[in-house]
Formats: sequence, structure tokens, C-alpha cells
Amino acid sequence: MREIHLFQPLTIKDVTFKNRIGVSPMCQYSAVDGEVNSWHLVHLGSRAIGGAGLVVVEATAVAPEGRISLQDCGLWNDLQEQKLRPIVEFLKSAGTVAAIQIGHAGRKASTALPWEGGGPLESGAWPIVGPSPIAFSSKHQVPHELTEQELESVVADFAAAAQRARNAGFQVLEVHAAHGYLLHSFLSPLSNQREDEYGGDLRNRMRFPLRVVEAVREVWPENLPLFVRISASDWVEGGWDLEQSVVLARELKALGVDLVDCSSGGGVCDVDYETGPGYQVAFSERIRKEDVLTAAVGEITDPHQAETVIRTGQADLVLLAREMLRDPYWPYHAARELGVKIDTPPQYQRGWRW
Ligand SMILES: Cc1cc2nc3c(=O)[nH]c(=O)nc-3n(C[C@H](O)[C@H](O)[C@H](O)COP(=O)(O)O)c2cc1C
Repeated sequence: MREIHLFQPLTIKDVTFKNRIGVSPMCQYSAVDGEVNSWHLVHLGSRAIGGAGLVVVEATAVAPEGRISLQDCGLWNDLQEQKLRPIVEFLKSAGTVAAIQIGHAGRKASTALPWEGGGPLESGAWPIVGPSPIAFSSKHQVPHELTEQELESVVADFAAAAQRARNAGFQVLEVHAAHGYLLHSFLSPLSNQREDEYGGDLRNRMRFPLRVVEAVREVWPENLPLFVRISASDWVEGGWDLEQSVVLARELKALGVDLVDCSSGGGVCDVDYETGPGYQVAFSERIRKEDVLTAAVGEITDPHQAETVIRTGQADLVLLAREMLRDPYWPYHAARELGVKIDTPPQYQRGWRW
């Protein structure tokens, strides 16, 4: 039988992923006071049962003001940590690797639920922060420019959340440095126009995100993988781009980051760019040439397409988001399509036919 790469295990440090398929982090906007609940357990748990090798819990705020919406998950207190534990235990018991993404929404914080329009909150808004007093759009608040002392406190928030993620039992931690949120907004010259050592040339713009990653790496156990999600391009002339992402990836690797998760966009409002099957895979392919592991994400929906990404060395993992919302059993269906037999949860043996 021909070898199928999508279902080959991958070991990073002390963690083994049973296949190369991950559930991309997806905000559910369903937490109360930053605490997860039965929605998160069932949502994440069903995708673990479905056979993914990795399940990444959604962008989880390191501080209350760093939430995209009031209903975001958080990891700034002990109760939030405790409530994540049963989810982690379930994911592991279903044979998947439990990961969590931690982040700070920066100048894109304080918004309504997507199904209620998603725009900046009108009632109940809270002050937002960023590298420079430049609003994300004409509708958004102008963010407060973080002082150097405030930056130190954000670094401490990230480190504390990383420690809590560990206490909760997660095996992989992902730092969210994509999609226009705080860390990405420091990287991009379009949102960062600071005149201190955190703004200006590429080295200065990378300084704060790298400080965060360094602080996180110090508390995140050496034997467990650390991922960073980046937006490899702003898709705008004069913005953040692949060339700068390559330099960033080298720096991340030097700090002990194990895998760069290659997304794009989100930093510039109303930018028009072409999407389509695998439209971000080229970013992952290029960054992987820096001798760092990568994940590819974005319109990966077809098992043969996913297999090609892994087989041809464009990425080490594929992450699926919307397709996993349509089909939590995508890994099982993909295995059938590719002619691979995967382990069946015993409870489901009578339904999973080969
Ligand atoms: C409902 C939803 C919520 C999302 N939340 C997050 C998130 O918390 N963190 C993140 O990095 N990306 C988030 N994304 C982006 C996805 O992880 C993914 O990168 C994007 O949807 C492209 O992949 P896809 O074409 O497979 O959907 C979200 C996407 C969706 C559809």
C-alpha cells in the first residue's frame, strides 16, 4: 500500500501527534467571565473524537482588556485555569494533543459578537491599547499607546497565562501573533509608528513580540512544544510581508519556538486579497526552508490536498478551521478517502467502517 503522509505521527520534543491534522483555533464567543463551559467541552471534544491529532483551544486572552469580545475565553485567573482542566483531560483521553492559543486583542479588542455585527462595542466598551494611537478603522476607538511600563505588564500577563496553561495540563502552547491583534500590530509598520526602541526598523518592531515569546518560553517547559501563529503578510504594499516574516521566523527559532503557524491578514481593515484553496500554504513552505517546523492553514478542505501539503514538505501540520465546523469527523472521512485505517474510538466501532 502506498504511504500516506497525512496519517504519519509527528513527534516534537516530548509530544507525539498521531497524525498531521489539527483543529485550528476558533473563537466560540461563548465564555462567561473568561471561563469555558460545556459548549467548549462538546465543541472541542467532538473534534478530538473525530480523529484530529491536535486540537487548539481558541484565542484565550491573557488579560480582561485583551479580549476581542466580552465572551472570549481568558486565562488570567485560577478559576479559568480550573475550568479548562476537564477539557484538557477529555482531549487527551480521546488521543489528541491538547493545545491552547494565548493572545491579546490590542486595538481590535472590545467588539460585539460576530453574529451581532462584530463591530466595536457601543455600550459596555472598554479602553483599548496598541503600539500607537492609530485606530483599526474609522469605527474603532483610537487605542492608548502602551508605555514601556505597561508593555512589561503585558509581558508578565503572557508569562502568567502560559504558566496557567501548563497547570491546566496543556501539552502545546501557541502564542497568537497574527490577525492584527496586539503582537502583530507591533510587527506591522502600518500600525506601529512608535519612536522608541519598539518602533521603526524591523528589529525594533519585532522587539516586543520577541520579548513576549522569550518570557513565555522561560515558563513553558523545555520538553513541550511552543508554537507561534503569525500573519505572514498584511497583503498591503508597505505593510508586513513574507520577507520580514522569514526574519521573524529565524528569531523565533533562536528563542526556542518549535513551530511557526503560518496565517495571514487581519491587520488592515477592508483589504482585498485573493483567497482560494491553500492560499497561505506558500508562506508555510517558504518559512519551513528556515529549518523550522511549520503549520499550514487556510482553505485546506480536501484530503488529497492536505496529503500533498505534507508529502511535498510544504508544512509539518495542516490546520483546518471552517471545514472542521462542517465536519468534526473530517480526519475519519479523510482516512477513508485516502485508504488508511485509523484507530476507532471503541464506542464508535459499530459506525466507523473501513
Ligand atoms: C469561527 C472562527 C473563529 C476563529 N478564531 C480564531 C482564533 O481564535 N485564533 C486564530 O488564530 N484564528 C482564528 N480563526 C481563523 C482560523 O483559525 C483559520 O486560520 C482561518 O479560518 C482559515 O482556515 P480555514 O480556511 O480552514 O477556515 C477563526 C476562524 C473561524 C471561522
